[in-house]
Amino acid sequence: MELRIDKLLAHMGYGTRKEVKKLLKSGAVKVDGAAVHDAKTKVRPNEQAVTVWGEPVAYRPFIYLMMNKPPGVISATEDAMEETVVDLLEEEDRLFAPFPVGRLDKDTEGLLLLTNDGQLAHQLLSPKKHVPKTYFAVIDGEVTEADAASFRRGVMLDDGYETKPAELVILKSGPRSDVELTITEGKFHQVKRMFQAVGKRVVYLKRVKMGPLALDPDLAVGEYRELTDEEVEKLKQYRAGEDEKKGT
Ligand code: URA
Repeated sequence: MELRIDKLLAHMGYGTRKEVKKLLKSGAVKVDGAAVHDAKTKVRPNEQAVTVWGEPVAYRPFIYLMMNKPPGVISATEDAMEETVVDLLEEEDRLFAPFPVGRLDKDTEGLLLLTNDGQLAHQLLSPKKHVPKTYFAVIDGEVTEADAASFRRGVMLDDGYETKPAELVILKSGPRSDVELTITEGKFHQVKRMFQAVGKRVVYLKRVKMGPLALDPDLAVGEYRELTDEEVEKLKQYRAGEDEKKGT
């Protein structure tokens, strides 16, 4: 597989694409010993030797993507039958072998982080971290403050599991209600099963926040983009902050 030299170098921390362009212009970048000046030059990082100022560029950068997951695709890297979120990525991004951090149901939309940074993913998914996840949901039925109180106390799911306190904000109450629910765990079908526990049904579900990351409102359903440096930094600091709090 091939990718653009500017993208490779930007991923590797050689600066923004603009800075990388300058680096290329300066003649610092060589591919198989020959200077490369054009940012659009395609390289095969697995096969070709890329150097900057004579130093080899180790291949295997981290990649962090934010997707507005569409309904109808599964949160997996590959599947024999179903389309996966990784199938939606451009080949250039797939090259970095990102995987989804946690799962959204096939019919759930919204914020999904994909990365190849296993350590970060592991930390964000660790049940010990209690990373808050906020969902916007449309509920068939009238959601009441009594439901909010139940969720604050914890409800019993169909398998007997007692949920941790969760925050329910009722945006619109009626025969169809709009709500926002923040949970700090990630049991299978958790939001749907929590509403089931209070006799109501989720008809639309979209994740809008995960830890310090909020879904970019400019991302249409099915679109994705790289996290900004600030977002990556926030994620890493958040993780470090959580570590401190727990004294780990
Ligand atoms: N809870 C659910 O029920 N489904 C999801 O996809 C995420 C949380």
